[in-house]
Amino acid sequence: MLPKLQVALDNTSFEDALESVTQYGEFIDVIEVGTILCVAEGMVPVRKLRALYPNKIILADIKGADAGNILAKQCYEAGADWMTVICCADVQTMVGMKKVANTYENHDVQIELYGDWTFDQAKAWRDAGLEQVVYHRSRDAQAAGKGWEQEDLDKIGKLCDLGFKVTITGGLNVEDLAFFKDYPIYCVIAGRGIRDAENPAQAAQDFKAEIARIWG
Ligand code: 5RP
Ligand code: MG
Repeated sequence: MLPKLQVALDNTSFEDALESVTQYGEFIDVIEVGTILCVAEGMVPVRKLRALYPNKIILADIKGADAGNILAKQCYEAGADWMTVICCADVQTMVGMKKVANTYENHDVQIELYGDWTFDQAKAWRDAGLEQVVYHRSRDAQAAGKGWEQEDLDKIGKLCDLGFKVTITGGLNVEDLAFFKDYPIYCVIAGRGIRDAENPAQAAQDFKAEIARIWG
């Protein structure tokens, strides 16, 4: 299966996010209500996007850290299909979210990998039934000069071997995608690479075309 294209709406208002996604929503697979937008407007954008895009996967990138059960109910009741948990959360927080996800059809939890985490933890997440991880180059690390390296590929490979659906993100541009060609990437998440492009609709289609060229 081709990697899905997920676009992160890290806008500071729903109005701005809507103006952006309207340009390329039809071309993408997953609409992410980004952490920045969640902080700005809570679950309101999730509700509105669910109504506007009934056939798209909607992700609430709340990067939850505790109270998994309650946060999951809030995200899923608002209309999200997927939500995120930060990797330093207790595994019981992840399990709490996943249990709520499993009460719906095709709902899921993405574990956001930031900072320090270990493969022992990753094994525990798999053993607990978690299926998705997001391999993330943080926005701030990127701004400080971090590029994509062999070490990143090695970790992605090990996560795939553990049986995770592995998603990649962090300042991705179309030209970056070929670097990951040897791995069965689940989703490619782009934010600024599409939202801030001169022609966002064209940028979304360019991402889709490159995904099909590499993994097709
Ligand atoms: C940052 C995020 C972003 O949504 C993700 O990194 C995609 O955005 P960009 O392509 O602009 O980095 O979760 O924490
Ligand atoms: Mg995000």
